Amino acid sequence: MRVGLLTGGGDVPGLNAAIRAVVKRGEGEHGHTIVGFRNGWKGVADGDVQPLGRQDIRNVLATGGTLLGTARFHPHRNEGGVEAVLTTLEAERIDALICIGGDGTLDAASKISEAGINVIGIPKTIDNDVWGTDYSIGFDTAVTIATEAVDRIHTTAESHNRVMIVEVMGRHAGWIAVTSGIAGGAELVLAPEEPFDIEKVTRFLKHRHRAHASFSIVVAAEGAVPAPGTAMHYETEVGKFGEIVAGAIGERLKSEIETRTGFDTRVTVLGHVQRGGIPTAFDRILASRFGVAAIDAATEGRSDVMTAIHGERVDLVPIADVAGKVKYVPDQMLAVARALA
Ligand code: F6P
Repeated sequence: MRVGLLTGGGDVPGLNAAIRAVVKRGEGEHGHTIVGFRNGWKGVADGDVQPLGRQDIRNVLATGGTLLGTARFHPHRNEGGVEAVLTTLEAERIDALICIGGDGTLDAASKISEAGINVIGIPKTIDNDVWGTDYSIGFDTAVTIATEAVDRIHTTAESHNRVMIVEVMGRHAGWIAVTSGIAGGAELVLAPEEPFDIEKVTRFLKHRHRAHASFSIVVAAEGAVPAPGTAMHYETEVGKFGEIVAGAIGERLKSEIETRTGFDTRVTVLGHVQRGGIPTAFDRILASRFGVAAIDAATEGRSDVMTAIHGERVDLVPIADVAGKVKYVPDQMLAVARALA
């Protein structure tokens, strides 16, 4: 069998562990030929191909980034994109295509499968908002990095008696904000799931600074927004691919808090630091399990399914059930962040 492999969308730590697992299991156990496409769907459309063998995956388990490169390119949103993809897949005699990506990449995979190509998805995104799986590759590493940042900011916040805003990634869902906020002991977590009222935020900070402490840490997801009808007016700025303009909400919160409370306030935007560097053990294991499950599924002739983890088990879920949905932080977890404020 000839199996194609691509990584699409924003990179995350753990992609190379997944690539390694697909190649090791695919070539070693099943005797397949693995063909890598460079830079996500763009490489499939352009015929940018590289062979992937055992020699290419040596010493990559613990590395960040993706050895295949990635891009935000959606064939079905580009004129002639789907046709170009199908031409390359035919020319390369691809029997099945494994797509490692977030919602955009998986959405494209689903569209390509409609043309009769066997596709298997592997979920990755530090945002952890892919529907149908408890975890996506990269999230655990991002939370670990964000938690360390909150820990470090704690000491300087306390020394200077400041309000410190830490802006973390998370466009539609606040998984990194809520989990790193709980783990790092933030005073306040602002997530897209719960639009905030700036007056309540500043009332809370003033009360805390009068009653308990003279510093506070506010962890805000980049997609956090004020509730409609409340005092702060703010429109989320988004780029070409729906990505949020980093720093915008952090800076706005800083000026609102400073003006309304008079407290010395600073903002730290963690940005792409959260997506860089070596994957945690959890992400390496998750990526390895997903890689093995994906190549096994391709071998069995499965199509239009995504690997997913549910508790201890790795399952396959239909991509059609996942596409277009967002996995939000559940109320129970949001309540814990509120309870520990
Ligand atoms: O991949 C998800 C994500 O990390 C978002 O949280 C963030 O808004 C976006 O990527 C940033 O995208 P880019 O790397 O294209 O600036």
